[in-house]
Formats: sequence, structure tokens, C-alpha cells
Amino acid sequence: MAARGGFSSRLGFIAAAAGSAVGLGNIWGFPFEVGEGGGAAFVVVYLFFCFVLCFPVMATEIAIGRKTEKNPAGAFVALGYKNWAWVGKLGILAGVLILSFYNVIAGWAFGYIFEMAMGHFGGGEQFGAFTVQIVKVGAYGALFMATTAFVVSRGVSGGIEKAAKLLMPTLIVMMLGMVIYSLTLDNAMDGIRFYLVPDFSKINAGVIYSAMGQAFFSLSLGMGALITYGSYVNKKENIVSAAALITLADVGIAFIAGMMIFPLIGFMSGGTMEGAAGGPGLIFVTLPQIFGTLGSIGPLVGTIFFVLLCFAALTSTVSLLEVPVAYAVDELNIRRKRAVWIVAGIIFVVGIPSLLGFGYSDFFSTAFTTYKDGGTDTDFLSFVASIANDSILPLGGCMIAFFAAHIWKKHNLDEELASGSPKYKGSFVQKYMNFAVGYLAPVVLSILFVLTVLFKFFGISII
Ligand code: TRP
Repeated sequence: MAARGGFSSRLGFIAAAAGSAVGLGNIWGFPFEVGEGGGAAFVVVYLFFCFVLCFPVMATEIAIGRKTEKNPAGAFVALGYKNWAWVGKLGILAGVLILSFYNVIAGWAFGYIFEMAMGHFGGGEQFGAFTVQIVKVGAYGALFMATTAFVVSRGVSGGIEKAAKLLMPTLIVMMLGMVIYSLTLDNAMDGIRFYLVPDFSKINAGVIYSAMGQAFFSLSLGMGALITYGSYVNKKENIVSAAALITLADVGIAFIAGMMIFPLIGFMSGGTMEGAAGGPGLIFVTLPQIFGTLGSIGPLVGTIFFVLLCFAALTSTVSLLEVPVAYAVDELNIRRKRAVWIVAGIIFVVGIPSLLGFGYSDFFSTAFTTYKDGGTDTDFLSFVASIANDSILPLGGCMIAFFAAHIWKKHNLDEELASGSPKYKGSFVQKYMNFAVGYLAPVVLSILFVLTVLFKFFGISII
């Protein structure tokens, strides 16, 4: 274990894994998915996925990682199932795709630190003008990727763990402050109603598929990121309770992000909630406008917010980069430092079309493709995101659960989960884990995976 590095403590692991989970997915992605999915009904479906299906899959990923001390592809081989390595490799591919577009958004967040400091609170127009300055946003993206690479090259406990422990609490405090402020604004309650009072007639197939994808993405699940992090975890660690804490932290922060943004949209729209479906630009449009109403402290608050958002994104990009790097180190025998910079460079290049797709290149912008799902126009970034998040991650989660319960076998999974958790065997949690990992997750996720792909990409709707 020493050669690969490891987390130094229980708190360190939880902080790093929660740091991986909490990121742009919560603060940028969750509100815009809720907005596009019609509000509170989406939230209900999302919560169902997180707690009922994803949490058991999370514990399983961590257990496989800790058992094998390997990257996602190597883990299946180490357990003796070479034929399953493709699941890990598919996960690694998903990680590359996700990081390629994630880094673009992280680069914007980085650039917005300076926009806020300069008091540019122009909303949608300003955001549009910002994303087309391709050299500038490209440079921000490159810097962000380089920072990620730097942290990853310093190894697990030195870089990843330290950064996460300090920054997460600061982010939470700041967001809570903003929630309080936004609740005092006029029409805040219209936002809260949109966000929290479900209109179940809004639940349709598309909402279910996006909620599933968002749950996997936000929890960093389905591609082996947590197999990789699990591989650095101590045998004395209680995996199930760690997974529960990570899930709670992640859902909690997404929830707070919604509490911060929807009252603001209520205020900005005079209660109509128009603009809630703002898509990927949402937090870059709404929040700066609000900072603009704060008077002389606006630039300061805006700057701090985007600084913290960048740190939240960094603990996530680090976990994304760590996966292909661990693969390159374990399986291709490349030195860690070297692997880090090569992989980061490749991923940056893969992300260039995503970068170009916000107005600079018509080809990669919203006209890039039109889903067959009823005609949603989609830019390149969102297209890659839906291939990775809505399709590969749930498929990966499904395969990992099926594998653990039926190929590797339940009793081996139980054994690993019981290590560090003396009361696990015979408990209700164990029974639920067995049911969820053995039956619920494989059945529900495989059906939803097929339905999602048919619906989104082929326009075939079965339900
Ligand atoms: N969960 C992170 C977020 O919400 C993104 C992320 C990090 C991720 N690692 C991942 C998503 C692994 C899927 C798989 O911002």
C-alpha cells in the first residue's frame, strides 16, 4: 500500500470523497437540472435515486476498491475476473469525457473570480460575451487543468486530502449566508414553491432519466472514481457509514445550492420563475446579477463565492483525473508525475470542442445536434455530458452492482463491508444492501439505461 499512497485518516478519506462528490454538479448542475426538469418534482425523483439506489452502489464501489487496492480496470482483474475489466475501462473513458467538459465550466468559474472582482454583474449578456473570448477562457481552462494536475501529482494525502478538509466547511458557511440573504428578497417564496412544492404531473420519462444521471454524476458514481478512492482506504474504516455521510453531504450541499438560487430567480423574475430553465449558464447569469444588487460589497461577495466554487470544483477534478492516472500507473507502468501531465494534456484537448460550443463556433454550439427526444437542441458540451452522465454512469453503476452481488458474490462483498464495521453482519443495513445491490440496482438501472438511450438518442419512447 505504501507505494501507492493512502489516506492518512478516516476524516481525510471522507473529506476527499465528499470533496469529489461535492462540486459543480451540486452548485452549477443541480439547480439547472431542477430548473429544466420543472422544479420540485425533479427534486423528489432525484432524492429517491440518491438514497435508495446510489448509496448502496457507492458502498459497493468503495468496498471493491479497498479489497483490491487497484484502479477500476485493474480491480476486476485483481478479483479474478478479467472479462469484467471492460466495465472499469468504460468508467475510465467516462472519467476522461466528464473531466473534458467539467474543466471548461471550472475554467469559467475561475474566470468569473476576476469578472466579479471587477464588478461585472451583467447577467446573460455578459456571460455570452465572456464565453466567446476563446483565448481567455481557453487560458483559464488550461490553468485549471494545470492546477488539478499539480494536486494529483503530489499524491493522495499530501494534496487531495489537505485541500478538501479546509475548503469544504468554508463553502458551506458562505452558501448558508447567501441562502439567508436570498430568502429576504421579494418573491423569494415563489422560488421556494417552485423548488419545494412538487407538481407530480411534471414527472415524465425525461425527468426520470435526467434525475438518474444527475444523481450518479453528483455522487461521483458509476465510473470507478470511488473504486479508486476506496483503494486508498484503511481496512479499519467503516465503509457503509462513510458512504452514508458522503451521500448526505452531497445531497445537503445540492439542496442548499437550490435554496440559494431559486429565491433569487423568484426575485429576478418578479415571481414568474421565467429563466429557471437557464441551462448550463444559470449560475453564471443569476448569481452575478444578485451580487450586483449588494452595493459596495458586491464585488467582494462575488469574488469569494467563485473562489470557493473553484475549490469545490478542484476537489472534483482531482478525483476525475486520479482515475485515468491510477490506471496509467498501475497498468501501463508509467511514473505518476509523468502520467499526470500526459493524461491532463490529452483531456484538455478532448475538451476543446466543448469550450468552443458557447457561441464561438456555430458548429459546436446549440446547433451541434438535436435529440430525438422531442427536439432538444444541444451543444457539444451538453451532448458529451449526457453520453457520460445519463448513459455510461448508470450503466457502470448497474454493472458494478451486478458484478459485486452475483459474480464476485454477496458474501465477499459482505466480508469487505464488515471489515471496520463489527455490527454490520446481521443488521438491517446488510439486508438492504444485499437487496439493493443484488436486485434493485441491477434491475432498475438496466431498464432505465435502455430506456434513456432509446429515448434521448433514438426518439423511441416505450413508457
Ligand atoms: N461529483 C462531482 C460534482 O458533482 C463531479 C465528479 C467528480 C464526478 N468525480 C466524478 C462525476 C466521478 C462522476 C464520476 O461536481
